[in-house]
Amino acid sequence: MSQRYLSGVQPSGELHLGNYIGAMRHHIEAQDDAYYFIADYHALTSLGDAEALRQNVRHVAAAYLALGLDPARATFFRQSDVPEVCELTWLLSNVAAMGLLERAHSYKDKIAKGLQPKVGLFTYPILMAADILAYDSDVVPVGKDQAQHLEITRDLAIAFNALYGETFKLPRIVLGTPELVPGIDGEKMSKSYNNTLPIFTRGKALKSLVMSIKTDSKGLDEPKDPDTCTVYKLYTFVASPAEQAEMAAAYRAGGYGYGHAKLALLKKLEETFGPAYERYDALLARPDDLEDRLRVGATRARAEAQIVLGRARRACGLD
Ligand code: ADP
Ligand code: TRP
Repeated sequence: MSQRYLSGVQPSGELHLGNYIGAMRHHIEAQDDAYYFIADYHALTSLGDAEALRQNVRHVAAAYLALGLDPARATFFRQSDVPEVCELTWLLSNVAAMGLLERAHSYKDKIAKGLQPKVGLFTYPILMAADILAYDSDVVPVGKDQAQHLEITRDLAIAFNALYGETFKLPRIVLGTPELVPGIDGEKMSKSYNNTLPIFTRGKALKSLVMSIKTDSKGLDEPKDPDTCTVYKLYTFVASPAEQAEMAAAYRAGGYGYGHAKLALLKKLEETFGPAYERYDALLARPDDLEDRLRVGATRARAEAQIVLGRARRACGLD
C-alpha cells in the first residue's frame, strides 16, 4: 500500500534556503498522493497582521507551485479551509498532559526569547497533531526542529487510542535533512534571526546578502578550512559532490579567497532557483488562480478530515 506523506509550512515570513533544504525539497520530491498544506492557523501564534497573513499565504502557495508541486499529484491546501482540525484539536487536548507540552523545546525557546506565553503557542503541538492525524498520515517529513512535535503527536494518538480504542493511525517521523542550514551569520538560518537567504530574493539584493556572509579574516593567499566556513557549508547544500570537492581543495590550497567562494555560491543559488523565478512572478500576478487551486485541494482534504473526525467523535461519545 502506498504511504501517505503529509506536511505543513507556516506562512509566517519569506521562505528561505533552510526551509527549502529542510522541508520543501523533500515535499516536492515525494508528492504523489501526498497532503501538503499552508499552516495559517499556526501562523496566528506569531503574526498578528491580517494583510501580512493573506500575502504570506499567497507567497507560500506560489513558491511551492513554482518549485514544482503539482496539484494534480498532491493535495495542496490551506489549513484553515479544513476547520475540522480545530475540533480535533479540542478532542486531543483532553488527552494531552500539561507536562508533555511544557517540555516542548520550541515553546520553551520562544518564551526564553521573551515572547509572552499565550495559550495558542502552548497548545500549538496539539493543533499540529490534529493536522497530522486528521488525514491518516503515514509519513511526516520535517526538519529536525519539528521532530519533538511529531513525538508529541504520536504520544497523543497513543493516549487517545488507549482511552477510547483504536482511532488514530500512528505516523512515522522522517527527518528531511539531519543537518541544519546555517544563516549568513553562521547561526541556524531562521526568519526569526534575520539571517536568511530567501528563495525568491534575486539580483543585486541576493548578491549583497551572499557577500555579507560572515567568515574569518584569512587573506586571499592563506589556506582555509572548509569545514568551519559558513560559505562552504551553504555551498554543500546546492552544489554537486564534485563541485564541493573542488571548492574544498581550493580552500586548502590557498590562493582562493572568500570572495571567490561567495560568487560560486551565488551562481549555484541562481542555478537552483533561477528557473522558478518567472513561474513565481506569474503565479503571484494571478491571485484568483492561486485561490482556485488551493480550494480544489481543500475540498479533497476536508472530505478526508471529516471521516477521521467522525471516527474520533464516535470514539469519545460525541455521536
Ligand atoms: P524558521 O526557523 O525560519 O521560522 P520554520 O520554523 O517555519 O522556519 O520552518 C519550516 C520548515 O523548514 C520546518 O520543517 C523546519 O524544520 C525547516 N527549516 C527551517 N529552518 C531550517 C534550517 N535552517 N535548516 C533546515 N531546515 C530548516
Ligand atoms: N509547525 C510546523 C513548522 O513550523 C508547520 C506544521 C503545522 C506542520 N502543522 C504541521 C508540519 C503538520 C508537519 C505536519 O514548520
